[in-house]
Amino acid sequence: MGIIISVVNQKGGVAKTTTAVNLAAAIGQRGKKVLLVDMDPQGNATSGIGINKKELTCTTYNVIMGEARPAEAVIKSDYKNVWVMPATQTLAQGELRLAAFENKTLQLKKALLQIKDDYHIIIVDCLPSLGVLALNGISACDRIIIPMQCEPYSLEGAAELLATVKRVKNSTNKGLQLMGIVFTMVDKRLTVNREVMESIKRSFPPDAIFKTEIPRNVRISEAPSHGKPITYYDPASKGAEAYRKLAAEVLKRAEKAGKML
Ligand SMILES: Nc1ncnc2c1ncn2[C@@H]1O[C@H](COP(=O)(O)OP(=O)(O)OP(=O)(O)O)[C@@H](O)[C@H]1O
Ligand SMILES: [Mg+2]
Repeated sequence: MGIIISVVNQKGGVAKTTTAVNLAAAIGQRGKKVLLVDMDPQGNATSGIGINKKELTCTTYNVIMGEARPAEAVIKSDYKNVWVMPATQTLAQGELRLAAFENKTLQLKKALLQIKDDYHIIIVDCLPSLGVLALNGISACDRIIIPMQCEPYSLEGAAELLATVKRVKNSTNKGLQLMGIVFTMVDKRLTVNREVMESIKRSFPPDAIFKTEIPRNVRISEAPSHGKPITYYDPASKGAEAYRKLAAEVLKRAEKAGKML
């Protein structure tokens, strides 16, 4: 039985894609079969994992519109145990066209149910919004991971996001739970970083936050333009070490959830 994890935050540029791509690679390296689903028209997870977007004929868009079976869109990446359901700019049309569907927020869920058992973990990289596409990501998953930058307005954003998660849980996705918040681009030298981190920690139960913090690391920001996850681009870097640790924590929480047996 597999577990579906969506990486969500309506705030842009908080390292959702970086976390989705690098977790997928690090979990694959630990011997688990992973599917990385790109649910963002920017297609950053697709290019970040080394897939050339120009060559794609079948993508997440075709799957959620019911035009293709999920297995038709999935391709193998160059990285151990990692498969990808890629996305391109076309997916932006989904936001509008799904509005005409009766179950407009459940299209991804319906699709992933068909292939859930082919993988240990499915990781969905969501776009920075709480619109229909993001709601598909939240509705399709067992757990959500929230990457968070320690900035003054992070907490307000998280409250709005968690209210949305609660609404989805109460309507169409009873089993939904927060797997954890992960602090990203952490720079302990910045007082504002430290202060915000402390206030966020006070606002949540201790196990709502992953122990692993992802440091700001220039190698992490270089890796996507080479189409490589950090654990392949520079395995000895601080960033690679952090994502390997986060992968171990995610696997532990997945097992504890009784998923991924
Ligand atoms: N730990 C890190 N150290 C340095 N740079 C980082 C780190 N994590 C992410 N970045 C960089 O920050 C930028 C934003 O990251 P990313 O694209 O993963 O965010 P996102 O939340 O997916 O953005 P969007 O909301 O647009 O989808 C990217 O340029 C990325 O390379
Ligand atoms: Mg992104």
